[in-house]
Amino acid sequence: MIVLGIDTSCDDTSIALLEDGKKVLRSLISSQVDLHRPFGGIVPEIASRKHVELIDYIYEKILIDTHIKASDIDGVGVTNGPGLIGSILVGLSFAKGLALSLRKPLIPVNHIHAHAMSIFLENEVQFPFIALVVSGGHTIILLVKEIFEYKILGTTRDDAAGEAFDKIAKFLNIGYPGGSIIEEYSKKGIKDYVFFPRPMINEENYDFSFSGLKTSLINYIKNNIVTNDNLKDILSSFQEAAFDVLTFKTIKASKDYNIKTIVVGGGVASNLRLREMFLEKGKKEGIRVFFSSPQFCTDNGAMIALVAFFGLKRGIPSSLDVKGFSRMPLGELVI
Ligand code: KG4
Ligand code: ZN
Repeated sequence: MIVLGIDTSCDDTSIALLEDGKKVLRSLISSQVDLHRPFGGIVPEIASRKHVELIDYIYEKILIDTHIKASDIDGVGVTNGPGLIGSILVGLSFAKGLALSLRKPLIPVNHIHAHAMSIFLENEVQFPFIALVVSGGHTIILLVKEIFEYKILGTTRDDAAGEAFDKIAKFLNIGYPGGSIIEEYSKKGIKDYVFFPRPMINEENYDFSFSGLKTSLINYIKNNIVTNDNLKDILSSFQEAAFDVLTFKTIKASKDYNIKTIVVGGGVASNLRLREMFLEKGKKEGIRVFFSSPQFCTDNGAMIALVAFFGLKRGIPSSLDVKGFSRMPLGELVI
């Protein structure tokens, strides 16, 4: 079974072809980073216009590259939320037109759900597991029993982790996107140069808050002398504080529910220090931690095709009436 996956939820135009829910035949991602860089963040109107310009070309290219005929496609999966609504509507309209013309099912996919399941593109992970999705828009812990059976354990009360990284990089004017730039600075920095707070770490829940941590760093910068030399140390200390909370709370969920497998997805999961901390702390607790490879941590069409494939197998009804949503609850099937 060949499923096409489309994601235009943010600033990447991503399309992939997936065979039998396992084999990524091709995953194409056109990044708009250079377009948005001068603004220090994503400009929604520019993002949706660029999706309109690119989507048809990327779709044609993926068919040419893989020698797959449009008529070989068995289903079209597409992100219908959450994300930037103008961008989502470009992918959703394209997918509807394609599904209609091919007379094949259209399967709407929740973007956060796809990040949580992206691990199955490359790994055979046993259920149940604890999933952490940590990206620019979301920080969420799930207890996952099956692909479509999960429970939300915790989420962020304000900024997502990646969002805090991006806002700090913008404040410091050190470039865009913030996450990978702060990672580069941090690699050379002293991790305990400043002690930043670890918000909500001692609370008996699995929620996060990154807005206060971001403000602590901004206040520190305003009140202290920052040089080219100590900036890497300050950023490294900030990164350490953010990742301490992410790892601690996810591992707490794993221990509390006695589930010895953790899966980490989303753009921030491509950070090598986060991976290292999870692996180190997980090992001490006898917990196995899995990460997607970086190309499947950040936004991609393959993870959408994956969830769509399982949706097709499950018999999720196809409808061309699907709507797009900027905010879309993950929903949950109570386990
Ligand atoms: O999953 P993603 O591509 O899009 C969303 O669904 O949000 O994640 C993008 C986020 C951005 O906030 C970006 O700064 C962050 O992931 N990010 C990173 C790294 N690479 C991307 N954060 C920390 N370290 C990285 N290496
Ligand atoms: Zn994403």
